[in-house]
Amino acid sequence: MEQYIIKGGKPLVGEVTIGGAKNAALGVIAAAIMTDEPVKLHNLPDISDVDILLKGIEALGAVVERPNVHEARMMGGSITTCIASYDDLRKIRGSYYLCGAMLGKYKRAEVPLPGGCNIGSRPIDQHIKGFEALGAKVVIQHGMIIAEAEKLVGAHIYFDCSSVGATINVMMAACMAEGQTVLENAAKEPHVVEVANFLNSLGANIKGAGTDVIRISGVSSLHGSTYSIIPDQIEAGTFMLAAAATRGDVLIKNVIPKHLEAVSAKLVEIGAEVEEFDDAVRVVASKRLVHTNIKTLPYPGFPTDMQQVMATVLCIAEGTSIVTETIYENRFMYVDELTRMGASMRVVEGNSAVIEGVDKLTGAIVRALDLRCGAALVVAGLMADGYTTVEHIEYVERGYEKFVNKMCELGAAIEKVDSEDAKAIQKFKLRVG
Ligand code: EPZ
Repeated sequence: MEQYIIKGGKPLVGEVTIGGAKNAALGVIAAAIMTDEPVKLHNLPDISDVDILLKGIEALGAVVERPNVHEARMMGGSITTCIASYDDLRKIRGSYYLCGAMLGKYKRAEVPLPGGCNIGSRPIDQHIKGFEALGAKVVIQHGMIIAEAEKLVGAHIYFDCSSVGATINVMMAACMAEGQTVLENAAKEPHVVEVANFLNSLGANIKGAGTDVIRISGVSSLHGSTYSIIPDQIEAGTFMLAAAATRGDVLIKNVIPKHLEAVSAKLVEIGAEVEEFDDAVRVVASKRLVHTNIKTLPYPGFPTDMQQVMATVLCIAEGTSIVTETIYENRFMYVDELTRMGASMRVVEGNSAVIEGVDKLTGAIVRALDLRCGAALVVAGLMADGYTTVEHIEYVERGYEKFVNKMCELGAAIEKVDSEDAKAIQKFKLRVG
C-alpha cells in the first residue's frame, strides 16, 4: 500500500504554482457533453477524479482525447447511450453532474448514485427537487438515479439549502429547458460561476451566477467552445496554511486572491502575514501563531473544505480555538488521527470542536479518512517533531495534483513509498536525517 512518509520541522520556503480547480473541472467536463460540437478544455488538474469522469464519458460513446494530462478534447456528438455504466463513477461525487447534463440534452439520464468523501450523509434531494420542478420524473433504482422527461419546461425553484451540486446540476438541465428558470437560494461558490461561464461559452443564457438568484433562459442547442479552468482555491488554501504552519515563506502562484479571502483573513488573524498580488499570494509566518474561532459557511464564508487543515494549524497555535462545522454532519473524523500526534482537540455537541494549542505535535502513523483529512495529516506531519506516516493516500491523490512533488520543491521532507518497501523507508530516513 502506498503511503507518505514525512520528517517534520522544516519550514516551507519558495514558490508553488496552483493547478486547475477540481470541483470546477468536474462540472465543466460533465457540461461539455451537452453540445455535439468539439470542446477543448485546458488547465484540467491531473487527478484521479478527472480521469474517472472522462472515462465514464468515453463509455457513453463520446470521443475523449487527452493531448496531455492538463487538456481534454471532447466530442459529445457520438454519444450512443444515456446510461452511465462505467463502474468507477460510483466512487466520485462529481459523477452526478452527468445527470443534469444528459437530462438537459437528451431528456433522459441513468447515472450511479454518487460516491465521494465520507463526511456526512450527502443526500441529493435538492437535485431531484430541481429536476422534477423542470418536469422530469426521477426514481432511484438499483443504485442508479434515473431521470427522464417528455420535455423540460423552465420553473421557479427555491433550494431548501445552499447546495453547490444541486445548483450546478439543475442549472445544466435548465439551460436546455423551454422558457425561463429562476434558481433561488443558489450556491455562490466560484465553481458554480465557472460552470455557468462555461455553459454560456457554449451558447447558454445564464445570468446571476455567483449570487443567490440565477436566471436561465433555455436554448434548444449548444455549440462548441475552448475553455480554461480556474485555479483551485482549496489547493491554494492548503499551501497557504501549510506555509503558516511550518513558519515558512511561500509565494503561491496562479490563484484568484478574491477566492481566498476567507482563508487570508483568518491567517492574518492568527498572526501570519499575507501579501496579495494580481494572481498570487505570499504567506509568511515567523512567530508562533495564535488562536481563533472558525465557523464554516457557504461561499464567501470560511470554506468547509479548508476546515480540517485550518484546525490542524490551530493545534499548535497559542490559546484555545473553537471550530464549528455547519455544512457537514461528520467532518471531524480526523480528530482521532491528530490526537495520535499529540493534539489536544475534542468534538463537542457534534458540530463543534475545541482545540487547546500545544507546543508541538509529534510524528505518528495516521490514516487519511477522506481527501481533506489526508491533506490535513500531511500538514500535521510537516509541523510535527519526528517521522509521520500517512496511510490511504489514494484519498489525497484524488484531489491534489503532484502534492508530494510540490511540497518537496518547497523544502518539505516527504516521500511517497510503498509500505512493504523497508529499503525505501530506510533510505528516506538516511537522506533526511
Ligand atoms: C461540493 O460537494 C464539493 N464537491 C465539496 O468538496 C464541497 O465540500 C461542497 O461542494 C461544499 O462546498 C464537489 O464539487 C465534487 P453541497 P456537494 O451539495 O456538491 C447538503 C472536496 O473536499 N445537501 O453543496 O456534494 C449536503 O448534505 C469536496 O473537494 C442536501 O441536504 O456539496 C451538505 O450538508 C468535499 N441536499 C450541504 O448540503 C442536497 O440535495 C452542502 O452540500 C444536496 C446537498
